[in-house]
Amino acid sequence: MAEKKTFPEHVAVIMDGNGRWAKAHNQPRLFGHNAGMQAMKRIVIAAQESGVRYLTVYAFSTENWKRSTEEVQGIFRLIVKYVESELRELKENNVHINILGDYSMLPEASVRSLETLIGETKVNDGLKFNICLNYGGRDEIARAVNELTVKRMEQGLTPAECPVTEEEIARYLYTGSEHFGIPDPDLIIRTSGEERMSNFLTWQAAYSELMFTDTLWPDFGPEEFKQMLSDFGKRDRRFGGRKEEGK
Ligand code: FPP
Repeated sequence: MAEKKTFPEHVAVIMDGNGRWAKAHNQPRLFGHNAGMQAMKRIVIAAQESGVRYLTVYAFSTENWKRSTEEVQGIFRLIVKYVESELRELKENNVHINILGDYSMLPEASVRSLETLIGETKVNDGLKFNICLNYGGRDEIARAVNELTVKRMEQGLTPAECPVTEEEIARYLYTGSEHFGIPDPDLIIRTSGEERMSNFLTWQAAYSELMFTDTLWPDFGPEEFKQMLSDFGKRDRRFGGRKEEGK
């Protein structure tokens, strides 16, 4: 039984509503993503200030490739801009960045920026800021199963002699100990009034608390974020046990 936490160690966010925000301001969608990037910077600071240990954001999914080339390329250009403008401050603030997802498929300039971001922050031991890029929860599970199958074949292990366990699958996810070693999210937030998971942290979200807000992502600020962190303490997490068992 997991221990009762009154504060979320790991908060994950589906940053939704940039397009609607842009439309409401009579602006192109990329204007909304740029405002979304500014909101993301504010939430990184708020997470640090509040003592969150891990912050994970869904920035580009394996399904987002279906959007127009202009929008997709615009989001990738934002990544380069983000690294140029934020790297110094992220380093000063001791933020450690991981990318969850196969970012090698992004344009070369974005890949180079991301490698700089990862390389220059890897010694930091403050907030672990995980950016999901070209990430899909089902894709992550399929990759993990493939990786562990190769390992098992090398070791000559069959499921009959040694059944595959949940722990073994979890170990090979991006968040698993074979990769970044990130605990499951305690709290998942989705903005913009949509209430679904959209292939985000599919395995890891099994026991996460979910919070939804109608606020569009570019308008989501530190105050609402900190209120949610505080509301988390009022949730009764039982992890499948009975109420009196939930420690
Ligand atoms: C969802 O809103 C948002 C995205 C798919 C992109 C999120 C990207 C950012 C916040 C910028 C990230 C920047 C970096 C540097 C990682 P939507 O477009 O689906 O909004 P809609 O549902 O209103 O159309």
